[in-house]
Amino acid sequence: MVSLRFLLCFLFVSNVYATIVSHDGRAITIDGHRRVLLSGSIHYPRSTPEMWPDLIKKSKEGGLDAIETYVFWNAHEPTRRQYDFSGKLDLIRFLKTIQDEGLYGVLRIGPYACAEWNYGGFPVWLHNMPGMVFRTTNKAFMDEMQNFTTMIVDMVKKENLFASQGGPIILAQIENEYGNVMGPYGESGKAYIKWCANMAQSLDVGVPWIMCQQNDAPQPMLNTCNGFYCDNFVPNNPNTPKMWTENWTGWFKQWGGKNPHRTTEDVAFSVARFFQRGGTFNNYYMYHGGTNFDRTAGGPYITTSYDYDAPLDEYGNLNQPKYGHLKQLHDVLHSMERTLTYGNISTIDFGNSASATIYKTEEGSSCFFGNGNEKSDATISFQGESYVVPAWSVTILPDCKNEAYNTAKITTQTSMMVKKPNEAEDTPSTLKWSWRPENMDNFLLKGKGESTQTQLFDQKVVTNDQSDYLWYMTTVKFKKRDPFLGKNMSLRVNSTAHVLHAFVNGKHIGSQHAENDKFNYVFEKDVKFKSGRNVIALLSITVGLANYGAFFESKPAGITGPIFITGRNGDETIVKDLSAHKWSYKTGLIGFESQLFRTESMSKWSVESVPFNRTMTWYKTTFKSPLGNDPVVVDLMGLGKGTAWVNGNNIGRYWPAFISSENGCDANCNYRGAYHAEKCLTNCGEPTQRWYHVPRSFLNAEGDNTLVLFEEMGGNPSLVSFQTTRVGSVCANVYEKNIIELSCDRKPISAIKFASFGNPYGNCGSFVKGTCESSNNTVDILTQECVGKEKCSIDVSSEKFGAPDCSGAARRLAVEAIC
Ligand code: GAL
Repeated sequence: MVSLRFLLCFLFVSNVYATIVSHDGRAITIDGHRRVLLSGSIHYPRSTPEMWPDLIKKSKEGGLDAIETYVFWNAHEPTRRQYDFSGKLDLIRFLKTIQDEGLYGVLRIGPYACAEWNYGGFPVWLHNMPGMVFRTTNKAFMDEMQNFTTMIVDMVKKENLFASQGGPIILAQIENEYGNVMGPYGESGKAYIKWCANMAQSLDVGVPWIMCQQNDAPQPMLNTCNGFYCDNFVPNNPNTPKMWTENWTGWFKQWGGKNPHRTTEDVAFSVARFFQRGGTFNNYYMYHGGTNFDRTAGGPYITTSYDYDAPLDEYGNLNQPKYGHLKQLHDVLHSMERTLTYGNISTIDFGNSASATIYKTEEGSSCFFGNGNEKSDATISFQGESYVVPAWSVTILPDCKNEAYNTAKITTQTSMMVKKPNEAEDTPSTLKWSWRPENMDNFLLKGKGESTQTQLFDQKVVTNDQSDYLWYMTTVKFKKRDPFLGKNMSLRVNSTAHVLHAFVNGKHIGSQHAENDKFNYVFEKDVKFKSGRNVIALLSITVGLANYGAFFESKPAGITGPIFITGRNGDETIVKDLSAHKWSYKTGLIGFESQLFRTESMSKWSVESVPFNRTMTWYKTTFKSPLGNDPVVVDLMGLGKGTAWVNGNNIGRYWPAFISSENGCDANCNYRGAYHAEKCLTNCGEPTQRWYHVPRSFLNAEGDNTLVLFEEMGGNPSLVSFQTTRVGSVCANVYEKNIIELSCDRKPISAIKFASFGNPYGNCGSFVKGTCESSNNTVDILTQECVGKEKCSIDVSSEKFGAPDCSGAARRLAVEAIC
């Protein structure tokens, strides 16, 4: 009887205290086991529920233990006390998908997210509440934050999803990187963070709460690190394990910006160094970045693609070699879990940034040999052996003898992705278009909106962010003999509109958009005003609301003025200030209100004289869904800026006309040395984003599909086409005594384009034979082993390929296979 009670009590306790922090702060302990935790961020609304199982499965196969996500308040509560958890917003379904796959979850409730998400995840109605200031001891803010946070916690508890209830969620987060912006909030900021901690604790989730980048995190909050490197991070409390909530695997992209890349070697280096120096939890931000559908992109100016150069690309394909090289690292780290979380740590410093760290338990030892020097390789002598550790790399030896992994030696294939034409269409290049003009008569000619004020308002205040578009309209009367008239007149608008289109008396006088990160500018155009009534109509467009910085909620958007008409007569300038005129406002565009993007829309479309380069124009076409299961993209080359819908689903803002600058790209990107977001860029002088993701679940596999575009600046839709994206070729470049697997991702390998064993050089797609090469026909051997197969495993050895004399230098196999 006693023993049964003891057993029940034990079971009960182990369930209730599923996740705790080990008493010495070395690790997170789950169900009594100290863990080395590898985790990855996937944001549920940046993919579709149909994609979740595959993304999470691939995460698990990639060696992850956990998935981390923010919760996006403005998506769930678009209107105060009206909630949406449907489709992509089905948080519970996402968490259950994680659970079904046997992974843990890290729930970052925030509710401030940042995340390059519109307004950092805050609802704009919140900003418009009286006396509101975000993220400080403001009663109205704290009440709303508590309300939303409590609701999320209750929802999750109801489904028993916290680890304390037997569910997958092992950690929860409150706030986000507040420490980085706290200064300007003064004492209130400090009080606010204490309030956050108490509020979170009071919700009694039964798992630890984390606060990232908060080095004054009140106990028992766990302070964690974000950045490209976190090996130097020391949590503020010695009992807090060393945890990394955001290891940035790449970076985000802005309209006008280039494609960021963080090398695989450098990501692996940062992770290995972190574990060398006592790390215990590493989360990749992002593991899958995904897509900013609809109006969810933050900003200003975050692109629709949120690919992030993450291990899984925007569409869910493996981004190789990043995915595979990290998977190998995870396997090695997991194999050392016990020594890493219990072992005594000792370090030997060899100088010149080289060091060895030994984790020792009674059962055995594990070692890391690190070389942080950017230029020179290090030779480390350890227990009678000598090891070469390449510059900017870490070697891991799970038994302190044999090298199992080096962060700079990639033995995973590189995959080159290609776009394929839509084979379901007979003539894919000739989609048939119909069109409609956006109806603007009431605004352009009458200046008639929904409300009037004798003031210029911030766009957020008027629209509640229900739309990107806001008309600001006024009328100006001139008498026939007005001294102004005809005197070289111009309209001058001090603007914080991300994009501005200006019309006078129905005529488009010009457009301007913010450039080079300067979101306030002066728009000035010469205008001919007439005697009598003139209508000025300014269309202000937001392209994602600010998501970062102290008091970012008050960053202006729209036309906050002043606005002037100026007339010049010789040396004399007459200025008329229109700022306090009667301004008429209209949120949104008519075509959006009448839902022209819906497939079942009954509005009339014309197939006659489809115009090109016409501003404010709707286009529509039908197409067949591309065959197969490869991810689908639509190529919007030729278009200007606007929004696209497939079968009524908003696939995001497009802006291929925004060309990124010519300079700053680096074809020969060097992984050595600290990464920053300006390093290793590509796509210079090209459209910032040309291809847009169309998730398969948006498409009808049989029959017709509809694409609707609202083109705002003018463009040519005749080049638009649907394509699929898949692996086109795979390459490897590995030293002798390694095994390399080539895989075309469930498609057969069709040919070996290049193969050489010796000292070949170059990159995937441009390999060249070196000065030494084996006499055996390497292409023939690999053709035999690989062609016709979905994958093949190649043992890179002199026995197989012959032993060319490379003057003592290590031999390598370079191979390029066509999928
Ligand atoms: C961090 C933030 C994330 C994301 C990241 C950059 O500061 O916590 O949400 O914005 O930067 O991608």
